[in-house]
Amino acid sequence: MPLPSSGPRSTLTSLAVIAAICAGATGAFAYTAGWLSPDRLTPTKLVDALAPPTGPVPGYRRNHAKGICFTGVFEANGNGTALSRARAFETGRHPALGRFNLGTPNPGAADATVRVRGLGLQITAEDGAVWRTAMINAPVFPVSNPEAFYALLRVPASKEPNAMAGFVAAHPEFAPFGAWAKSPDWTASYAQEPYNSLNAFLFTNASGAEQAVRWSFRPQAQAERITPEDLAKRGAAYLEQEITERVAAAPQRWSLILTVAEPGDPTADPSRAWPEGRRTIEAGTLVVERIEPEADGPCRDINFDPTILPDGIRVSDDPFPAARSAAYAKSYDLRTAEAKDYPKRSSEAQR
Ligand code: HEM
Repeated sequence: MPLPSSGPRSTLTSLAVIAAICAGATGAFAYTAGWLSPDRLTPTKLVDALAPPTGPVPGYRRNHAKGICFTGVFEANGNGTALSRARAFETGRHPALGRFNLGTPNPGAADATVRVRGLGLQITAEDGAVWRTAMINAPVFPVSNPEAFYALLRVPASKEPNAMAGFVAAHPEFAPFGAWAKSPDWTASYAQEPYNSLNAFLFTNASGAEQAVRWSFRPQAQAERITPEDLAKRGAAYLEQEITERVAAAPQRWSLILTVAEPGDPTADPSRAWPEGRRTIEAGTLVVERIEPEADGPCRDINFDPTILPDGIRVSDDPFPAARSAAYAKSYDLRTAEAKDYPKRSSEAQR
């Protein structure tokens, strides 16, 4: 069989092919990095915009940086199977781990300075399928889409006088979140907060029926209302100390409430609450059994990416989960590469 020619013409052809591949790869990198379209919102831009004026704190999450780990179980009561075939909804005890946190890029922020509290959660079903979610205590998100969130993050660095007033005027959807953020009735414990998905997801049940759903973990603990001034008097890291002591004394519980959209409810905009009276299903109870430090704790190396979903739950037309997934991956890559500063127990940090 004749071999392909290896003369000068074929060498040129090979070089041209290699050059074309390199150009294509460079173009792909440039596109991904946003160099070809400087106005495009990229994960890097979002993560950079989260940084406080003094710069990001190495080794820590680029947002919700202050937090503490826990382990426990999700006790499913079987009711959720009406909406989703995810095995996590089948009656039984499914291992859970997570992280209570504050919505700040500063791991040293005082508790009383941060209104938004969060819960990162991972539930693993018997078939090994993992469901990750990161939720906050606010009833709605401040803005309608990731571009508006980027604009909001850039307000503090703006040189415009009254930049925040200008932002609010241009984004009327901010008002419900703004009213909630200003309300002085905070709670005195991570255990007393509700944690809301805000983003809508599509649930598919065993018959193939599909519904848009938002979920909330509602606390079974009675809320002790407190003003931020009184919370400040209890200490800058009171919440972590309080939840550690509370869980050591008794496991803490939240009911998982699934809320089903009706036709026309906004699924692509977490700044808009769904009307009262929507069908809800109580699908089970999250039981937090053990608090562990973040340093070397089970939640430290987890990225609570809201697109990590089991079969039976998938993303909807809500643009946030995809944007969040990309930004969380960027943050995860940065913090896990900053080994020197990565939260470690002091004995290991000295090695
Ligand atoms: C485009 C919008 C958003 C951006 C850019 C963003 C960005 C981030 C980043 C970079 C992290 C740190 C991730 C890591 O290093 O593991 C984070 C954590 C978190 N975010 Fe978001 N976020 C967005 C929207 C939301 C929304 C809508 C919610 C709640 C409904 C939320 C709740 C949380 C929570 C609870 C955590 C902490 C999770 C943990 O403990 O690891 N975020 N966010």
